[in-house]
Amino acid sequence: MLRTFTCGELTEKNVGQKARLYGWVDSVRDHGGLTFIDLRDRYGKTQIVASADFQAAIHRGELKTEDCVQIEGQVALRPKGTENPKLVTGKVEVTKANIVGGPKSAFHSASSPLPFEIAKSRETNEELRMEYRFLDLRNPVVQKNILTRHRIYQIIRRTLDKHGFIEVETPILTKSTPEGARDYLVPSRLNQGEFYALPQSPQLFKQILMVSGLDRYFQIAKCFRDEDLRADRQPEFTQLDMEMSFIEENDLFLVVEELLKEITKEVMGHELKTPFVRMTYREAMARYGSDKPDLRFGLPIEEISEIVKNSEFKIFKDAAAKTNGIVAGICLPQGASISRKEIEGLTEAAKKEGALGLAYFKVEDGKLDSPIAKFFDAAAQSKIIKKFGASPGDLILLAADERAKALKVLGGLRHPIAQWKNLVSEREFNFCWVLDFPLFKWNEEEKRWDSEHHPFTSPNFEDWKKYKPANELGKIRSRAYDLVLNGNEIASGSIRIHKKELQQEIFETIGLDKEETDKRFGFLLKAFQFGAPPHGGIALGIDRVITILLGLDSIREVIAFPKNQKAVCPMTGAPSPINERQLKELGIKIR
Ligand code: AMO
Repeated sequence: MLRTFTCGELTEKNVGQKARLYGWVDSVRDHGGLTFIDLRDRYGKTQIVASADFQAAIHRGELKTEDCVQIEGQVALRPKGTENPKLVTGKVEVTKANIVGGPKSAFHSASSPLPFEIAKSRETNEELRMEYRFLDLRNPVVQKNILTRHRIYQIIRRTLDKHGFIEVETPILTKSTPEGARDYLVPSRLNQGEFYALPQSPQLFKQILMVSGLDRYFQIAKCFRDEDLRADRQPEFTQLDMEMSFIEENDLFLVVEELLKEITKEVMGHELKTPFVRMTYREAMARYGSDKPDLRFGLPIEEISEIVKNSEFKIFKDAAAKTNGIVAGICLPQGASISRKEIEGLTEAAKKEGALGLAYFKVEDGKLDSPIAKFFDAAAQSKIIKKFGASPGDLILLAADERAKALKVLGGLRHPIAQWKNLVSEREFNFCWVLDFPLFKWNEEEKRWDSEHHPFTSPNFEDWKKYKPANELGKIRSRAYDLVLNGNEIASGSIRIHKKELQQEIFETIGLDKEETDKRFGFLLKAFQFGAPPHGGIALGIDRVITILLGLDSIREVIAFPKNQKAVCPMTGAPSPINERQLKELGIKIR
């Protein structure tokens, strides 16, 4: 046996036993004539006390940190007062220890000098960390993320299996799925000039599995999207992809809520409150200026157009008078002590969101103080205070603009303000469903309507009947929903279209002609001709969920081998050039 115990296993119960451990040298310390080694593996650390021979070898420089060694010795209690209560193995040590076969034997795999200290790998330049990801992952803090990910996968499989979900793998070499990003393409050698697309999601396959009668499907699915990268985006990422037949929204929400409850309970010991808050898209935009509202703190948006439309302040008056204009704001409790510099900072932040400027009122006893307060009479001032439920010492920040723009500006200020005022609790998990997204959005560049989610999303039928004939497409709500966690979109899904005619009508509406749809989605339309069941589903961004639950700042922390901002894998160096012979076989010439 190469080992009789792991490095996280020995306790008082083993005192007197012989032990053989295999692990990495975490540290070597000389103390009062004795040499101690901390030996580390996935399970923990064990203190080793070197025998006289081993000590001499260490003094000759024959053992270094991160060498991988097999150690043999005798388990003993640590001397009184030297125990380490933080370690499971903290009461014992392995004494009279030697490397099996001695240093440089087959049981000693030496390490080259390290590019960084393992325990401090997270403080190292990220590119270097990822180049040496195999070392970075030795750091127990980093390794824990991968172990937690594994645990979450087991909970997903267990919970969904219990609910009758079948795990099915769908192809990686496939056809383009419209999820809004560029495709990664793979040239075909056998069909020169033709390309597979890597799936942006398994969307069409999972719908087809419903047509096949599988009823409930899930997959921990790799998805590929060639898009601009950010802290919460990777070119290849993982979704928990689900689809169910014969359901309405609520049936799916219950399963997802139970799953997240299980995960947070088992992984973080956290009791989630269910059902999650549910909010329409319209309400989320009006109250929080965002379709992914962070509800860990208040700071809701209030509209005051009615109150200020007859005021003397031209900017407000003009905005309020426009059909599509609005004057609205957020109230910051006890924010009136804000400095001029801080106001300038917030104004800059508002300008980045597209605002022309930011107005403010400091709330005093029954009245407002501000360079523009003089334009509002006592009655208007008191109405504004009432609208925000403001108290003396509060600060009201206001934007006047086109509705969508003003809401976006205020929504964009909520988080920086909450952080600045310490209103955000990092360890709170606030989930919220956002429902009734618009079915279409206007594509200004191409002067046509696009699907807001994807074109397989079912419209809200009342809206469809009412607004489609009138060509008021912007007013049609869909049956799409997002799940939001602490202000981040972590999942997205919908009740789908399952009738060929409606699916074709949607394709036409977004400007795809019959030839194009037949070419791209003919197989789906064909499947819909054979008794397709009503169905719906969702996909959770697993990397994102784990990142947020663990309180990390980048999804790269929870992916074993992530890509950098340039979509390069710093460890393998992928992507890399291919040789002329390979190109020739594929019938490809580099331009
Ligand atoms: P969507 O495109 O919204 O929906 O993706 C679902 C979830 O996947 C995560 N996500 C990402 N995570 C990391 N890096 C990326 N580049 C990335 N892109 C998306 C997000 C997102 O909420 N087929 C539909 C789902 C459905 O309708 O069932 C889809 O893929 O957390």
